[in-house]
Amino acid sequence: MTAEQSNEKKPGRPAVPLAHRTLHLVQITDCHIFESEQGILQELNTRRSFEAVKKAVFESGDNTDLLLATGDLSQDGSAASYRYLAQQFDEFELPVFWLPGNHDAVGVMLKNFTGINIDASKHIVAGAWQIVMLDSTIPGEVHGCVAPSQLDFLETSLRQHPDKHALVCLHHQALDTGSDWLDNKGLDAADRLLDRIGQHGNIRAVLWGHVHQDFHRRINGVEWMSTPSTCVQFKPRSKTFAIGDEAPGYRHLRLNSDGSIETRVHRIDYLDLALDRSP
Ligand SMILES: [Fe+2]
Repeated sequence: MTAEQSNEKKPGRPAVPLAHRTLHLVQITDCHIFESEQGILQELNTRRSFEAVKKAVFESGDNTDLLLATGDLSQDGSAASYRYLAQQFDEFELPVFWLPGNHDAVGVMLKNFTGINIDASKHIVAGAWQIVMLDSTIPGEVHGCVAPSQLDFLETSLRQHPDKHALVCLHHQALDTGSDWLDNKGLDAADRLLDRIGQHGNIRAVLWGHVHQDFHRRINGVEWMSTPSTCVQFKPRSKTFAIGDEAPGYRHLRLNSDGSIETRVHRIDYLDLALDRSP
């Protein structure tokens, strides 16, 4: 989808701010919601942990202009999981932009993850910034790839606004995390994306989900970040599959008009994490 966020306020929908000021974002990722209200992942009820993270966003008191949902929103691709998520995300009363993960069913998502605040646009222009949402999924596969069509979309989007700082979002990790089992399910041909990013001096950050952990490196002036899942965490730097002890969470980002970024991961601290740790 190539529609650019118009910034025209639709009835009942909050507008993305146009002013040249700091843009405040919340990234929510890897919710893994099931069709059933009782759906559990590693003994964790994913609806319950999502709702705890949502409450933490509300209670943070941070300014937020828009939300980014970066894939694996559903565990089973069911219509009911997306309808639940749509209702939940609409309660933020903020614009919500999304991209799919390997667990998502895009067709079902387009029909059911809809609401007054949910926007399927993949190029968002707001203030001094633009955000490009890439689809890195390969149908039926866990690992991902940025297809030539998605690289073309990135290029076309960036050419429209070479004067604006850019944040690029996708589901799969663009850089290795140091966990062999997870990096084997990462982004195929990542060099194609890295090369493209290196060619554009206005890309300030790359943001993803999939790895269920906090990761942040600054390389050649670009911030590379992943964000904890709203449910189960993967143990950082584990060579084989392992569940982490960290709590579910989300990331808050401040995109400043000079291109700098301030960011922090928030974790909830009041959920009983009696997890099943088997693969
Ligand atoms: Fe995930």
